[in-house]
Amino acid sequence: MGKTLIKGGTVVTAVEKMEADVLVEDGKVVALLGREHSIDGDEVVDATGKLVIPGGVDVHTHMELPFGGTYAADTFETGTRAAAWGGTTSIIDFAVQTVGESAMDGWEAWMEKARGNCAIDYGFHMITGDINDQTLKEMELLVREGVTSFKMFMAYPGVFYSDDGQIVRAMQKAQEDGATICMHAENGIAIDVLAEQALDRGETDPYYHGVVRKSILEGEATHRAIKLAELTGVQLYIVHLSAHEALDEVIQARDRGQNVYAETCPQYLFLSLDNLGNGFDGAKYVCSPPLRDGAAGHQERLWQGLRTNDLQVVSTDHCPFCMGDHHAFGTQKQLGQGDFTKIPNGMPGVEERMRLIYNGGVAQGRIDVNRFVEITATTPAKMFGLYPKKGTIAVGSDADIVVLDPNGSHVISVDTHHMDVDYSAYEGWEMVGKIETVMSKGKVIVANDEYDGQPGDGEYLPRSTSQYTI
Ligand code: URP
Ligand code: ZN
Ligand code: ZN
Repeated sequence: MGKTLIKGGTVVTAVEKMEADVLVEDGKVVALLGREHSIDGDEVVDATGKLVIPGGVDVHTHMELPFGGTYAADTFETGTRAAAWGGTTSIIDFAVQTVGESAMDGWEAWMEKARGNCAIDYGFHMITGDINDQTLKEMELLVREGVTSFKMFMAYPGVFYSDDGQIVRAMQKAQEDGATICMHAENGIAIDVLAEQALDRGETDPYYHGVVRKSILEGEATHRAIKLAELTGVQLYIVHLSAHEALDEVIQARDRGQNVYAETCPQYLFLSLDNLGNGFDGAKYVCSPPLRDGAAGHQERLWQGLRTNDLQVVSTDHCPFCMGDHHAFGTQKQLGQGDFTKIPNGMPGVEERMRLIYNGGVAQGRIDVNRFVEITATTPAKMFGLYPKKGTIAVGSDADIVVLDPNGSHVISVDTHHMDVDYSAYEGWEMVGKIETVMSKGKVIVANDEYDGQPGDGEYLPRSTSQYTI
């Protein structure tokens, strides 16, 4: 690979905006050059009038996750290719340990699924679904392999659920090893009671998924997770935060100086409980935590949290399931006809995160472009031990770079997206800003509306422990 010069653009990092050309060699950024220079590239990317930003880092995806009686529709191949189209150049997915299985075996199985198939670089968190003495030992081995964060569930009893005792044990171990606990904070035991009562009343439509998974139960679980983290001293990261009750808990903990962080996702910033109406069509929008009541002020609070850094990251929780049959995995959302509790939980999004947050955040004046880079690339990389290899444009960093035209536009549609799922949650939405060129480790993989990468371009990312503190 020769030298590539990205010329004429405005380079944006989390802290700077520079009129600079970017010189790339051997997959790395080797220089940021003022405009007056005499350096030529073997290849030139014309970025005149465009923004040159770090490739997105999406720290919450579920490619081919076995869940709800089927598998998430995107494989590592299709999902990472779609991510690349949308300007994301690294993901952290979730390997799974199920009950009775070794965590190490679970991680190796997910390594095998991803190996040779990914378009972009990838790392793993570990879902610890069965905390016991062996799992605790394996957590230490996993940290050595670069799996430095563990997801636990206060939701989904009988599936991934851990009780408070298991959570405390895992938190103690993670604290010892410098690892982070990622928490799905919803009180699943209480939710299951409300869900059963709703079904008994004949409330079977997808809408009731949003009704029974009350925001107060996200607030309660977030409070409990924070208190258990305080007890054990572990770094805590609340995943897919959707409710202002949960945000209040995070804010209070951070004000006390506790190492507590949280992400939200585009679906909570742009969609609401109303999307769950309209009969079974609402199944498209079934995810957990659910989309929240638009009149209750959750969205405004989430945007405010992003502005004040009480929320540090926007990830996708990409976990797509088809409305019709999937060509390989068969019946998906339809499994929940007549019983909303059987609808596989999850929504597609890995391809749309950068555009949605640029459009809804920067173009609509809620955040500036530096903050956009910070919450979509820089902080995710720091939070999960990938910085400065990923998440910035600096000498020595991987040349994962996106050229975004702020004057261009893009219409989101199932007809043009690249995710292997038969609907878009944002069908027909027009986005200001066009992702024009995507470079991964110095190789242009998306340009001129064409994809030029291949499965296996992406490599495993062993991660250090978190580089982000309060
Ligand atoms: O509905 C969701 N979020 N599905 C994916 C699994 C999870 O809880 O993150
Ligand atoms: Zn979750
Ligand atoms: Zn998830």
